Amino acid sequence: MDIFRIEGPVQLYGSVTVNGSKNSSLPIMAASILAAGKTTISGVPNLSDIRVCAELLSQLGCLVQREENGDLSIDATVVDNPVGDYEIVRRMRASICILGPLVARCGRAQISMPGGCAIGVRPVDIHLRGLSELGAHIRLENGYIVAEAPNGLRGKEIFLGGPFGSTVLGTGNVMMAATLAKGKTVIESAACEPEVADLANFLNEMGAKISGIGSPRLVIEGVKELHPVNYTVIPDRIEAGTFMCAAAITSGELQIRNCRLDCLMAVVDKLRNIGVTVEPSGDGCIVSRTGPLLATDIITQPYPGFPTDLQAQFMTLLALADGNSIIVDKVFPDRFMHVAELNRMAANLRKEGPAVLISGVKKLMGAPVMASDLRASAALVVAALAAEGTTIVNRVYHIDRGYEKIEQRLNPLGAKIYRENEHVKTVPAVLAANPE
Ligand code: EPZ
Repeated sequence: MDIFRIEGPVQLYGSVTVNGSKNSSLPIMAASILAAGKTTISGVPNLSDIRVCAELLSQLGCLVQREENGDLSIDATVVDNPVGDYEIVRRMRASICILGPLVARCGRAQISMPGGCAIGVRPVDIHLRGLSELGAHIRLENGYIVAEAPNGLRGKEIFLGGPFGSTVLGTGNVMMAATLAKGKTVIESAACEPEVADLANFLNEMGAKISGIGSPRLVIEGVKELHPVNYTVIPDRIEAGTFMCAAAITSGELQIRNCRLDCLMAVVDKLRNIGVTVEPSGDGCIVSRTGPLLATDIITQPYPGFPTDLQAQFMTLLALADGNSIIVDKVFPDRFMHVAELNRMAANLRKEGPAVLISGVKKLMGAPVMASDLRASAALVVAALAAEGTTIVNRVYHIDRGYEKIEQRLNPLGAKIYRENEHVKTVPAVLAANPE
């Protein structure tokens, strides 16, 4: 298994280009099965989650290929095995987003029920409620969700809000299914994330009739059939936000290209509040910091609120800020596996109920740490860039799920991230310097 050995502190300078969005690509890949024929998607990043999704679609009967120019093509002429196997679904929870398209296309779907993960219990009750409102008969059988609609789905007015507000993939699942339902569907309390809007735009390109895109009220007029298309996904705003945090924590200056600031307003607002400069520039922005980091409070919320997927990375910034900060995650209240690991790096964080109290420290120190989930591992890498000495990040496979070859993109900017095999022990720089 790979680990990262990271030497710090460093300063990052230069230009980095953001990849296409993982969280757009996954539901858009699933949506391609709504139309018989070959769909081609550009900008899909080369990540382990994308490869798992490709494997899942192949299992359904699709032909999935990475073209020479990097595009991903999905030929869904044949979808004759509407089953999402446990062995695949357990590796990626987002597999659930084939449920809606499969019921709509095949009248039947059998998907392994996703389990919990490091960031929370993560039920799919709202997905199932929405699909049964469209007329699907749903039952649980030996750990599998079985959904059937032999006579097709029927449009309806559906409230899709949940205990933590809207659901991103839940909205996607119901919206995809409704495109081929008879009549009109209205989704109230729909998620407004840019990735949901990207999926809706993709569906409309395929011939769907969706309006209210980007708002909490989506209206879908069902159509008889959809057709395959060529489409380009939006840039990954969470990757962009992570690079912004890396520039800020190292007091460097980064030009972040292919970055849509309009999708990151809550993040940019907070960065400016804590003393970071974010200037629009070309197809992105320039992020820099010369003064001290300032404390602030963050409450994560569904879009357009502050994204939970940047909560951990921001916590590393606030760990080095002047003063006390508070972070509350209103979307995944238990998403704090990184707290103990950052404290191992000499941060001063205290979990109090749903909140983390952060007392800013002057510096972080390198240490061996354990990645627990995708964004927590990104936070540990960001922290290690500013920490004094050597940090060993274990279980790097978490970060490979959402960031393509991150060390090859940050090292040219001044980072010192070395990917190594955990079994090949290398002598950290500190010890090499002082063999005694
Ligand atoms: C998407 O997950 C993203 N994943 C997550 O990013 C992201 O953290 C999340 O949205 C919130 O922004 C993908 O797009 C692949 P939700 P999703 O349904 O759709 C509760 C990353 O790091 N809920 O919006 O699964 C749920 O438990 C990943 O890239 C129910 O109670 O999240 C949570 O507390 C991690 N019942 C809240 O709603 C349901 O049926 C929001 O979850 C569904 C959700």
